Amino acid sequence: MATKVADWRSEQAPPWAQPEVPPHKMEGSRYTDRGFFADEWEHMWTNVWLLLGRESEIPEPGDFQVEDVGPESIIMVRQKDGSVKAFYNACQHRGSRLLFADKGHVDNIVCPYHSWTYAWDGELTYVQDPEDFSGGNPCDDLSLVEVACETFCGWVWVNMNPDCESLEEYLGPVWEDWQAWQPDGWRRMTAISAWVPCNWKVIQDNFCESYHLLTVHPQLTANIEEGVPWTRFDMSHEGHNRMVMQGGMPSHRQEGGPEIVSPLLEQLDMWELKADDFKGREFDTRRAIQQQMRSLGPKRGYAHYDRLRDERLTDPHHFNIFPNCSVTFAADSVLLQRMRPDPLDPQRCRFDHWVYVSPESIEAGIFRSGRLEFTGDAEVNMIEYGDAPMGMVPDQDIGTTAGQQLGLRSRGYRGARLADQESRIARLHHVIDEYISGERPRASNAD
Ligand code: FES
Ligand SMILES: [Fe+2]
Repeated sequence: MATKVADWRSEQAPPWAQPEVPPHKMEGSRYTDRGFFADEWEHMWTNVWLLLGRESEIPEPGDFQVEDVGPESIIMVRQKDGSVKAFYNACQHRGSRLLFADKGHVDNIVCPYHSWTYAWDGELTYVQDPEDFSGGNPCDDLSLVEVACETFCGWVWVNMNPDCESLEEYLGPVWEDWQAWQPDGWRRMTAISAWVPCNWKVIQDNFCESYHLLTVHPQLTANIEEGVPWTRFDMSHEGHNRMVMQGGMPSHRQEGGPEIVSPLLEQLDMWELKADDFKGREFDTRRAIQQQMRSLGPKRGYAHYDRLRDERLTDPHHFNIFPNCSVTFAADSVLLQRMRPDPLDPQRCRFDHWVYVSPESIEAGIFRSGRLEFTGDAEVNMIEYGDAPMGMVPDQDIGTTAGQQLGLRSRGYRGARLADQESRIARLHHVIDEYISGERPRASNAD
């Protein structure tokens, strides 16, 4: 008798390494102290791969994108051969910042101070009065200072450590996971960014746990499972985390539930399912939606569903990329939440809340459970936190983290007491400490 071979797509993704996480006290000073902030910059930020740019922002040779991280500004430029190079945004004459626009196109990078001119590859090609330099023409020995740069999944990543490991080594198991979605060509649908009055880690801590969902985002229990054991947690040796929250069904902790309400109702409707058919078996909607996505998806143009496991069709896959990104994949969208430190103030950071959608959902005109009106790639809307709404979920998160910073300053705060499901926060702080102590960056990934 032939044995039915299990389809890999119906199986869960294999677990990650799950390194031991020693307890961490997480004193308030980690979020307020200028000395700790300086140590983090010197030892951690300058030694990690940072998701910084987007390839689609710089399609043609000479197109550039500029992004800041703490006190640094980095220029990313598309080269003639299609690759991307990154440079510190600092002139080698007397240090002026070179480019002040966020993006654009240049034939050459010309310093606004004395017109020193650099080619796309960083070469210094022109200085005024070269004969006036008795030490020799600066074009003979100076160029822009390059930053390690790689592209992956449509993003441009940089690392300020010239001897850094490859991005693939740095990302560890994330590398393979993200390739399933292949979001290289996904388009930015929304992009709101805010300066927030809290340390960058307060927000990343928040994204390292789902313990807060029930109180901070009660509305999410309508179609996302936030609690153990229906949420899976993983940690990698490299310092990244993964959290898989079952979706496409009511949460087991839904108040008064399980009940099929909006937006699960619309999600069922989108896949030609009727809520009434699930009376008394509300948790079966997840499996039913997966099956409908398998059978109807390709006909509707969602070719990439074939590469996704069933759980990736319905369950939000949330990644904490060390140190400062939280990236949540759904079948057809990815939410990038990124924190960058203020240049000077440990109690302030920049928060990006950007959503990318697959071309297939743009084509179909449907996004998650509603109509999708895509009017072109979103420009970044930069605000001061509180001046304008960012959206329900980010407003709920950031309202909480801004308030948490106030308590973290208090002499009455004695350090954190973490639940087991918050161990990824301890892991984040542990890995930061490893950078500060010099244990990282590592040549190999032995933990
Ligand atoms: S500082 Fe750039 S040309 Fe003088
Ligand atoms: Fe949240």
